[in-house]
Amino acid sequence: MKEKIVEFTKAMEQKAAGEESRYQAKYAQAGKLAPRKRLALLFDGGKYTEVGALARGDAGVDGDAVITAYGSIAGKPAYAYCQDYTLMGGSLGRVHADKIVRIQQQALKAKAPIIALLESGGARIQEGINSLDGYGRIFSNNVKSSGRIPQIAIVFGACAGGASYSPALMDFIITVRGRSRMFITGPEVIKTVIGEEVSMEELGGSEALGRKSGISHFNCADEAAALSSCRTLVGYLQGGSRRPLKASGDIMAVIPESERGAYDMRRLVSCVFDEGSIFESQGDWATNAITAFATLEGRAVAVIASQPMSKAGCIDIEASEKMSRFVRMADAFGLPVVTFVDTPGYLPGVGQEHGGIIRHGAKLLYAYAEARVPKVTVVVRKAFGGAYIAMGSKSIGADHVFAYPFCEIAVMGAEGAIRIVNKKELAAGVSPDELIQAYRKNLMSPEFAAHENLIDEIILPSQTRERILAALESAGSVERGEHGNIPL
Ligand code: HXC
Repeated sequence: MKEKIVEFTKAMEQKAAGEESRYQAKYAQAGKLAPRKRLALLFDGGKYTEVGALARGDAGVDGDAVITAYGSIAGKPAYAYCQDYTLMGGSLGRVHADKIVRIQQQALKAKAPIIALLESGGARIQEGINSLDGYGRIFSNNVKSSGRIPQIAIVFGACAGGASYSPALMDFIITVRGRSRMFITGPEVIKTVIGEEVSMEELGGSEALGRKSGISHFNCADEAAALSSCRTLVGYLQGGSRRPLKASGDIMAVIPESERGAYDMRRLVSCVFDEGSIFESQGDWATNAITAFATLEGRAVAVIASQPMSKAGCIDIEASEKMSRFVRMADAFGLPVVTFVDTPGYLPGVGQEHGGIIRHGAKLLYAYAEARVPKVTVVVRKAFGGAYIAMGSKSIGADHVFAYPFCEIAVMGAEGAIRIVNKKELAAGVSPDELIQAYRKNLMSPEFAAHENLIDEIILPSQTRERILAALESAGSVERGEHGNIPL
């Protein structure tokens, strides 16, 4: 009996060592970690329990190129699977899929997050329809789990075909700069079918994923940073740390005197929330909108904000998609939504109209109107037209709306408005400045909005943190899982 135990222990140790040496041989210079090292960095204390290590598929390889495991992250249960690219390119065959499906079901039953550590050539060609069926089953579980448990993918290398679609059905995708690649069809197929020539990096490298398609939510410097970001993200999705921390900074030092001057909204938001707690998602894509996690006295919130530094903070197709999915994600996971508005409106233009701004912009209206979580909005400087309504207005269900004394809320800016409604006066020689001043005073001021009961309070910038905190403390909490987090 003892002999058998020694023999078995040795075999398991050899398996781990084999994986390490395969990675060393293939990626000695590339700074790539072997799968079990990745899992050790993901779970608390480097500890996890492996499931199905000896399961074999048609290829006759123990584990069938994927390690499935559970452990804890920030003291709470968590589940994960990690593909081994050095075995059949991490491709997905029947048993590989069976193992992933099982760990997905266990995570859902335990109401715990699941993390997919991915690097795969997609459906295993040699197993034919069995591989396709495997993806179908995984996708189906992704959707059943959507909005009920956090699902996060970290893409360590190439992820082709089905290996890209499963992450796309999850809540967040983390990539590694210069390493991650995602595409449905690779450069070879593109060249054959439509004659276009493109490198793998240009097509689906981390820069393309982070800046062009917005597929990557967090683009990290290396594998260890990606795993650390994943642990941080899980912490926010589980509600935050509840450690009381202080904010620092003066909002008035951030906003320029000139009403048209650009400023970095990220700096303003940093003055409000716990120091060092801003964790921005999709920071390199649709930069005219900000979507970020933050904590307020340790409680996690979702922050949505206009970014006046990019396209003057206008809402366009991409910004609509980015913000609406973040609001729905927050609502699914019970995180309050705090919105900072400084936008001149939806971006005008033929490209936007033909691209479907009506269809995409409507997603933002839908997301805010649907969300049951506490919603607090701060109108910073400008909130015009449909963009005022869409960005967490009271009319669309915000619980608390605050406005700064110098902000302007209106159907449109003064210069445009007087040209439409004061045509006769202008023709009669009344000075445009006079008309603009009257419009500003009568129809654009926060006092007008407050008298109409459409904002709750005009506050000083220095009161922002305390007002949001009080609003959230009075708001109670919301259960998770009321709806899925469909990829909008
Ligand atoms: C079986 C595969 C494989 C696959 C790679 N390998 N992909 N084996 N099935 N799908 C194996 C290779 O044979 C090779 O084995 C090893 O993995 C490494 O592959 P290389 O090509 O040498 O590596 P690299 O140059 O880094 O290129 C990586 C790659 C490329 C870009 C991923 O391998 C590739 O294009 N693979 C095919 C991608 C693909 O089209 N997959 C099917 C998608 S369809 P050896 O033994 O030589 O080391 C799909 C359907 C799902 O997924 C449905 C979605 C809705």
